[in-house]
Amino acid sequence: MKVVHTIEDLRDQLRGQLRVAFVPTMGNLHEGHLALMKLARQHGDPVVASIFVNRLQFGPNEDFDRYPRTLQNDIDKLEQARDVYVLFAPDEKELYPEPQSYRVQPPQELGDILEGEYRPGFFGGVSTVVLKLFSCVQPRVAVFGKKDYQQLMVVRNMCRQFQLPVEILAHETVRDRDGLALSSRNMYLQPAERVEAAQLYVALSMIQSQLQAGAQDADRLERQAIDFLNSRGWKVDYIAIRRRRDLNKPTREEIAQGEPLVALAAAKLGATRLIDNLEL
Ligand code: PAF
Repeated sequence: MKVVHTIEDLRDQLRGQLRVAFVPTMGNLHEGHLALMKLARQHGDPVVASIFVNRLQFGPNEDFDRYPRTLQNDIDKLEQARDVYVLFAPDEKELYPEPQSYRVQPPQELGDILEGEYRPGFFGGVSTVVLKLFSCVQPRVAVFGKKDYQQLMVVRNMCRQFQLPVEILAHETVRDRDGLALSSRNMYLQPAERVEAAQLYVALSMIQSQLQAGAQDADRLERQAIDFLNSRGWKVDYIAIRRRRDLNKPTREEIAQGEPLVALAAAKLGATRLIDNLEL
């Protein structure tokens, strides 16, 4: 695997390549990321991954400074998995040589709801860096995890509206044995919190099984799941049942008629904020 830190070296490595498959990450790689790279390999050649902790997508009180930066460890994992041909790991000066005053602004109805409501500016920061990374890598396909469901939709819509020649592929969320979705932020959890963390998936699964059993009152199901977690010491930001196609609230009729739905959740356990979702 080649490790490059500059856009110029990246372009040198990729000259003439027309089927690049790309996996953008912020590093601290786990099995979830490695699964994205395996999928990328099935859909393009060569596979390029990036590691860049993107300041633009962190709020002023968020964990930008303490976000785990583990480049050598990440390189070792990628070398071992042998799916990635080039790793692009720019520093901030390379990707943001001047203040980034041009930004991608996702539409309010997608970018300012759910995660966007609790993390103002987050999806603008994500979209802006993804557009920049796409411009550096010029991939034919790019792979994102369903764990960040709203991010996946924002990126898809951005590509569609800007008519970018990139196909966006989604990978299923990779979970630990107890159901907890893999995430770099799981490492912030204390041991007892790590055990409790699996209850987020339990709460989403409760919604899923009740809908499968014929329940149609989304507000009640959301309330029950929120109360379940809050009573166990969580601080729930939201648990929301939404239409998969646009993340709008479904009507009772749509639920009855089998509209494809997803339940999305964000909740704090101690100092750690976790997100997860489940297609219903
Ligand atoms: O999902 C992530 O790790 C990040 O949001 C991404 C897509 C790499 C952009 O910084």
